Amino acid sequence: MSSYILGIESSCDDTSAAVINGDGVILSNVIASQKVHEAFGGVVPELASRAHQQNILPVVSEAIRQAGITKEQLTAIAYTRGPGLLGSLLVGTSFAKGLALGLNIPLIDVNHLAAHALSHFVKESADDDVPEFPYMCLLISGGNSQIILVKSPEEMEIIGRTIDDAAGEAFDKCAKVMGLPYPGGPHIDRLAAEGNPDSFKFAKPHIPGLDYSFSGLKTSFLYTLRDNLATDPDFIERNKADLAASLQKTIIDILLDKLDKAVKIHRPRHIAIGGGVSANSGVRNAIAQYCEKKGIRAWIPPRRFTTDNAAMVAIAGLMRLTPDHTSDFSLPPYSKTTI
Ligand code: KG4
Repeated sequence: MSSYILGIESSCDDTSAAVINGDGVILSNVIASQKVHEAFGGVVPELASRAHQQNILPVVSEAIRQAGITKEQLTAIAYTRGPGLLGSLLVGTSFAKGLALGLNIPLIDVNHLAAHALSHFVKESADDDVPEFPYMCLLISGGNSQIILVKSPEEMEIIGRTIDDAAGEAFDKCAKVMGLPYPGGPHIDRLAAEGNPDSFKFAKPHIPGLDYSFSGLKTSFLYTLRDNLATDPDFIERNKADLAASLQKTIIDILLDKLDKAVKIHRPRHIAIGGGVSANSGVRNAIAQYCEKKGIRAWIPPRRFTTDNAAMVAIAGLMRLTPDHTSDFSLPPYSKTTI
């Protein structure tokens, strides 16, 4: 009998459902993004939770329909248990539990960060290549900047993390002070393509070990704008491409500096990237070039798998599903955790 895993993701502001088959091949991946937050310049938790409630049923129905199956053919349900916004997680968690109970099929709780790290196992066709364990994963998003050693689907070690802002926050907050819409990362990416990355120099952190910090860069960027605007009110408008390119280069330098340190210690043969910031053109090129130079195999996700999506939740669930799996329907969602 064929198996079909339904993944459900609702940790932040994307409601997503996906179906994969037992070989990890994607059959559908539906994402409803919430536009309601744009007006507020960031995600408003209560609004996110309400939007998930509106979206969850149509999104799950559409994922099942696009997969060409009926809900009775599902063999397991994987859902994001955390970390994320509690009100958002509650919607996906409750829906997944209700559906799994109703269909009497296994329920698998998935850690959102682990799902990002395993997203490269989602296949377009059964004979697609996948990463080899152990590998290193650079997880860069709006909420996280981490270097993870992925030893197996169950065993992951975070060897570096941000001590303040995430890389995505650095993009978004700097974009905001430039007057760009939220989320600013994609706008910086687009502008950077037309700018000179060596036009401006911004502060880089000097913290020991493999941890990241982006708050100093944010302040340095803000002060550059403030000082120049004092004498030139059109400074941002006239320099926006160069500012974006220089900001993007600084973020990439910071990311690559710690990644290189981690590589020298752990000597991985494969490096994967994931999270919203891994959609950035500069980041993708820099990682590809770095890996080529070092003889490391790079895993750069298709752009549609860089943001939050349920296909990665489904694959993480499939990789954790054992024949004697027992579902725990009493597990509550969690907002914060390590892997
Ligand atoms: O993983 P994700 O969708 O969810 C959160 O963790 O929130 O990541 C969202 C982040 C935002 O900060 C957004 O600005 C950033 O990913 N992002 C980008 C690009 N696309 C999305 N940052 C830079 N360049 C991009 N092309």
